[in-house]
Amino acid sequence: MEYTTLNNGVKMPMLGFGVFQIPADQTEQVTLDALSTGYRLLDTAQAYGNEEAVGNAVKKSGIPRDEIFITDKIWVSNFTEDRAAASIDESLKKLQTDHIDLMLLHQAYGDYHGAWRALEKAYKDGKVRAIGVSNFDPIRLIDMAGLAEIKPAVNQVETHPFWQQKPAHKVMEELGIQHMAWSPFAEGQQNIFHNPVLEEIGQAHGKTPAQVILRALIQQNIVVIPKSTHKNRMEQNFDVLDFSLTDEELQKFGTLDGGKSLIFDHSDPKTISSLISAIKTQAGGPLY
Ligand SMILES: NC(=O)c1ccc[n+]([C@@H]2O[C@H](COP(=O)([O-])OP(=O)(O)OC[C@H]3O[C@@H](n4cnc5c(N)ncnc54)[C@H](OP(=O)(O)O)[C@@H]3O)[C@@H](O)[C@H]2O)c1
Repeated sequence: MEYTTLNNGVKMPMLGFGVFQIPADQTEQVTLDALSTGYRLLDTAQAYGNEEAVGNAVKKSGIPRDEIFITDKIWVSNFTEDRAAASIDESLKKLQTDHIDLMLLHQAYGDYHGAWRALEKAYKDGKVRAIGVSNFDPIRLIDMAGLAEIKPAVNQVETHPFWQQKPAHKVMEELGIQHMAWSPFAEGQQNIFHNPVLEEIGQAHGKTPAQVILRALIQQNIVVIPKSTHKNRMEQNFDVLDFSLTDEELQKFGTLDGGKSLIFDHSDPKTISSLISAIKTQAGGPLY
């Protein structure tokens, strides 16, 4: 496995497994399959409704807890200092663990500063080993990193061949914040697994387009968490640690970048309006 060292000294695998949109009743078996394939980083979230299943799989796997890196995320309906603190305890209970390796704020909406203070406290109390954010654009990241007592260790954002996040990546590097990619395959959009540029790069290494994507991102210091419910694909996606892309191949990969979101556009008022309405409903009214 390749690792990155976060800005607080914690070691984190560069390749992990995401469990978004896996039904709760399948997540335990799928996670067990991922662990038996060799994945040691698991990415879940309060909003995915499957923390308990992930916790069950970790227990059942028999793998020592300190060999597995669990990432979790606090949902926006828990974004006040008190609610966030209570939700961290709830997540620990569901995951059946006394610590979470990396806890993120899922989105940059609502009282995320209050939620961050709760995360800072949980970090000091040893409930979480590292704290970070997700879906923070460069401006919000600079704000948080500059003014909070503890700087985020990670920013998890939509990143795939068609939106490579080059300007945001530069800001993360300057701030010493680890870039983590969500939806590295763009959820399969635009026929990505048959993209001719990726196929051509892959042919030179005997690798598939999926493997080229993961390799290219890892090689550019981006942590990846592909999701698959199929064991053969889990294995394929894990088999990316034995080859390197040349500078020319990385440049070719770079030509696929369309520079904008394909999945969840945080700059689109309509998208954000419906998200905020849903959060208000989940929270049972105004948050603050
Ligand atoms: N922070 C956030 O806001 C946020 C948002 C979205 C996602 N995430 C995280 O990022 C993780 C990954 O993103 P994602 O699940 O949205 O999408 P993804 O990993 O980009 O793509 C998953 C899709 O690709 C297919 N697939 C996987 N490997 C394949 C292969 N080798 N060949 C062909 N098809 C393959 C999967 O199908 P099968 O399952 O049928 O194999 C599934 O349809 C999530 O699970 C979650 O942990 C975070």
